[in-house]
Amino acid sequence: TWTMEHFIDEKVEEIRNSVGDRKVLCALSGGVDSSVAAALVHKAIGDQLYCVFVDHGLLRKGEAEEVVKTFRDEFNMNFIKVDAKERFLNKLEGVSDPEKKRKIIGNEFIYVFEEEANKLKDISYLVQGTLYTDIIESGTATAQTIKSHHNVGGLPERMMFDLIEPLNTLFKDEVRRLGSELGLSDAIVWRQPFPGPGLGIRVLGSITEEKLEIVRESDAILRDEIKKAGLDRDIWQYFTVLPDIKSVGVMGDARTYDYCVAIRAVTSIDGMTSDWARIPWDVLGKISTRIVNEVDHINRVVYDVTSKPPATIEWE
Ligand code: XMP
Repeated sequence: TWTMEHFIDEKVEEIRNSVGDRKVLCALSGGVDSSVAAALVHKAIGDQLYCVFVDHGLLRKGEAEEVVKTFRDEFNMNFIKVDAKERFLNKLEGVSDPEKKRKIIGNEFIYVFEEEANKLKDISYLVQGTLYTDIIESGTATAQTIKSHHNVGGLPERMMFDLIEPLNTLFKDEVRRLGSELGLSDAIVWRQPFPGPGLGIRVLGSITEEKLEIVRESDAILRDEIKKAGLDRDIWQYFTVLPDIKSVGVMGDARTYDYCVAIRAVTSIDGMTSDWARIPWDVLGKISTRIVNEVDHINRVVYDVTSKPPATIEWE
């Protein structure tokens, strides 16, 4: 019979046998799949695994710290954090087209990762957190690309490593169980889906540090309140978006002219279609009050009540 312990033992054995005394590289994003894959491979080969985490400055509040704490401090992995924030922001300066932003972020990520891989030398394998469903989906990928994501096999051919894909027989719920079994926290194992381009596509139009800060802070408040309300496992994704508009408000006796924040929260099975989440009004009210009070430059909060289709989950 199939048990999780049995699966772990078997995979550990298999990875040890194929890796021998060679070096293995993993691009850690902090997402569920790459985190669980890294934890499993680490269990098998320990210090022969090198994890590279690229901080592109487009992560949510506290996210980079959480990844560092988990993998460097708790798991004691060979962990390389690359602070590439300036590099990404410079490349993105003045760019407002969503697909251009995606392309810049995706390419830059590969350049940064490749530089780190070259520094390490003698890498033989690359760990990827491919799931069973990723294989099925990409095998029959006839659907037209609506947004240029689903970055399966995103690395260029010049980076030719053999792949270790220890999760490629598992479904998402099994990956979560495996992660818990390997000692990963709920914060990682139950992390909501987060796009590769991160907050870069949640600041609509061109990206500035000030706008990123607004999204980061308002998103942190939203996540906090959703968790407090006990809704965090029922809602597929919930986040804030900063549209590129200002509107009029009033504060004390003074007129304000400032940004508004949109809240997006959806229920979904697989992200292909979705419905807007029926968050209780009181919870929404509390989130709105906190965002306006605690985040600078915000005088209005709106809630997105559109399903997918016709809207998409992200605004860009
Ligand atoms: P949309 O906005 O197309 O999103 O309804 C569907 C799911 O995909 C995520 N998403 C992305 N993921 N790179 C990614 O890795 C991207 O460029 C990207 N765009 C959207 C989105 O968060 C949702 O889960």
